[in-house]
Amino acid sequence: MKLFVEPASRIKGRLTAPADKSISHRAAILAAMADEPVLITNYLDAADTLSTLEAITQLGALVERRSEGLMIRGTGLRNAQVPEAAIDVGNAGTLIRLLPGWLAGQQGSSFELDGDASIRRRPIDRIAEPLHLMGAEITATEKRFAPFTVDGQKLTGIDYLLPVASAQVKSCICLAALIAEGPTTITEPQPSRDHTERLLAGAGVKISRERDQITIFPTDELSLPDQLDIPSDPSSAAFAIAAAVLVPGSRLLVENCSVNWTRSGFIEIAKRMGAVIITDLETRSKDGAIAQNEPVSDVDVTAGPLKPTTVKADEVPLAVDELPLVALMACFAEGETRIEGAAELRLKESDRIDAVVTALNDLGGEAEATDDGLVVVGSGSLRGGHVEAGGDHRIAMLGVVAGLASREGVEVEGVEAAAVSYPNFLDDIAALR
Ligand code: S3P
Repeated sequence: MKLFVEPASRIKGRLTAPADKSISHRAAILAAMADEPVLITNYLDAADTLSTLEAITQLGALVERRSEGLMIRGTGLRNAQVPEAAIDVGNAGTLIRLLPGWLAGQQGSSFELDGDASIRRRPIDRIAEPLHLMGAEITATEKRFAPFTVDGQKLTGIDYLLPVASAQVKSCICLAALIAEGPTTITEPQPSRDHTERLLAGAGVKISRERDQITIFPTDELSLPDQLDIPSDPSSAAFAIAAAVLVPGSRLLVENCSVNWTRSGFIEIAKRMGAVIITDLETRSKDGAIAQNEPVSDVDVTAGPLKPTTVKADEVPLAVDELPLVALMACFAEGETRIEGAAELRLKESDRIDAVVTALNDLGGEAEATDDGLVVVGSGSLRGGHVEAGGDHRIAMLGVVAGLASREGVEVEGVEAAAVSYPNFLDDIAALR
């Protein structure tokens, strides 16, 4: 579907962003692994997280839709059922990387996983390697792609240094560690989103963090709370926040948004570029105890003149899905903005370095790809033009935000991809104009 987005005169109003995608995936998977039923309120109703509900149903969990939320009755840690057909994760990278962590320890059972064309291009050797070290058997297409098979085995805890700061890989190992023999220690090169750790700590799992190391002990059972409430997704909110930062005269209040410090990189970067954003961000956690809650706050955003910045590797995992928006904002800041240490962007739903560089140049911006990031030379405004979403939800929404802030408007081809994480995106944006 093609949509022409006219420039906005201002962005004004209140927004409740959709539920957090990362936490929704995790809550559903952990509920499926639990023995007692869990009520999940405010579960994300979008294509990606629907794939997760379908997957856990295939694995034997019961999912009941109630007016107050989703009631999930799990199978227990060691009793996942073998589905009749392959599990189809659709476009959901988080699902295809987390689920094998659970399935790898289902001794004597075999599971096949597959996904859409984008999923088949994204490597899974990053989870296959640590799972192999734990004793699992994974047979993948060309050794590193979907479709692949997980043969459940007896697992043993490992001491593993993550080669990249990936919350998906970390979470996969955490799930396998629950069923392994002996403790597992994961060392992170940089901190990444910690929702899995928080949920596991809240489920009574013995899990701790010391500096860059997380240690998890196996357990017989997950004791999740009776009810899990999912906060709003800061990565989805970031699109409206960027629009409000870029369109002069704007004022936006995002209500009840997650301000987990491992997800707040975009707000920190936007503030550094000159945006006026008032919110109560969680402070970076100290060593030791892992928080069990997900902090939320209102986020009050006003447009302001922007200046360029440099985003370095340690900030990348804390803003990884919002970096395309940082690049867009950089077009409106006079001078050179650099994003470094972000090679991971090439492995997202699309190659987001190439996709962003192409989109910004097509809109009259000046952007160049580097091996591990990109450089944007901002001129203070953006002409407008045409953006191809290429099936990537975040590129589709980037095109819409670019249109709102541009001088001449933007035609977005494939705007329907937004439904992967944010089905009401266009209506929410229309209500703010
Ligand atoms: C996610 C982690 C990030 C992110 C993705 C969701 C998660 O990926 O880009 O959209 O839910 O754990 P990586 O952990 O692979 O960087």
